[in-house]
Amino acid sequence: MSDFDLHHHGDREVGDGLVDLAVNVRLPIPPAWLRAELAAALDDLAAYPDSSAAAAAVAVRHGRDVGEVLVTAGAAEAFTLLATALKPRFAVVVHPQFTEPEAALRAAGHSVRRVILAGDFVLRPESVPEEADLVFVGNPTNPTSVLHPAATLRALIRPGRLLVVDEAFLDAVPGEPESLASQALPGVIVIRSLTKTWGIAGLRAGYVLADPTVITLLRAVQPPWSVSTLAAVAVVACSRPAALAEAELLASAAVADRAYLVAGLRALGIEVLGDPRGPFVLIRLPEADKVRLRLRESGFAVRRHLPRPRHHPPTPRRPRPPNHRRLLHCPRRRPARCRHNVISQFLRDRHLSTDGEGYEPSATNAAAVPTSTQAPSTSPVIPPSRRTQRASSTPVTR
Ligand SMILES: Cc1ncc(COP(=O)(O)O)c(C=O)c1O
Repeated sequence: MSDFDLHHHGDREVGDGLVDLAVNVRLPIPPAWLRAELAAALDDLAAYPDSSAAAAAVAVRHGRDVGEVLVTAGAAEAFTLLATALKPRFAVVVHPQFTEPEAALRAAGHSVRRVILAGDFVLRPESVPEEADLVFVGNPTNPTSVLHPAATLRALIRPGRLLVVDEAFLDAVPGEPESLASQALPGVIVIRSLTKTWGIAGLRAGYVLADPTVITLLRAVQPPWSVSTLAAVAVVACSRPAALAEAELLASAAVADRAYLVAGLRALGIEVLGDPRGPFVLIRLPEADKVRLRLRESGFAVRRHLPRPRHHPPTPRRPRPPNHRRLLHCPRRRPARCRHNVISQFLRDRHLSTDGEGYEPSATNAAAVPTSTQAPSTSPVIPPSRRTQRASSTPVTR
């Protein structure tokens, strides 16, 4: 059981006629070239899907062996596969964080320790308990938009520990700095999503990059044919150099939009938290929930930080062309009293969108531990019958 609704996501905030600033998908529809490829693949739907070409494309894109790739029905499926396949004794989720990793762990019967980052949301490796044998971190993190240095993440590697880095938004950061996706680090599992950048949340496309031992475990619990033919086509198409170049342009545009938004928010006296590097920002307001509702009345659906669902007033309005400038100039932005104080914002295609996940801060777990980057030995989190020598090899950077 959790103390709040772990399944509350931005799609619950959107409504008819509202400018969607709550769901963190960048494009309102997939690009024309991708739609054309998907349309062409419709003729293949009679056959059961085969994601091997998609896995090969991902392997080439990240310079990994194909055995280190598992294509999934979005990043979300990867959380469930990990929670189902692994047997952690001490699972840690670093918060603030997308809530699905914790939800998946709990649904699989695992207890979860939260490490809550405070203040600037900088991750300090010593805040993760040494005994943790499974650690989930987002990079950049939803909802803080903070990008953790790769060196910090590598400092979390421990013998007997699996480190899961959710890079669902890293393709929205120009150059994909701090990514571990192309590094075959023992004990490190990277999750990627294609749904945000390419406007295909409804298609479900993502993948896992990890040691073949882990990939084998996950594959064993993945439902048959869970990656559809169209999703597999999308993975191949979005892994091509031309698509990567396009994603890079989108990411660069989001940087400019974010700078405009942050400057505008600060000019309004609104606190922008952390050092946002993703396509969304987290802000703190004295009475954010009422501001959220007023934005809703003004035609903007934004993501709340609240730990529990609330009734939304009926507010549909005719949408005008949405953009981040309109939000900043929204006439009904004056805050009113409310006990909840954080909402987050997301930039989408020169528009503002929002994203954020509720969490209840509790005591940060601080344990002084060495920040070794030694390779893990065999991991107790992996059932013994599944371990291989690979997990105890020296970290290799590709
Ligand atoms: C940080 C993060 N990871 C993963 C996901 C899920 O991605 P997908 O649509 O690929 O399942 C989301 C969705 O919002 C997210 O915010």
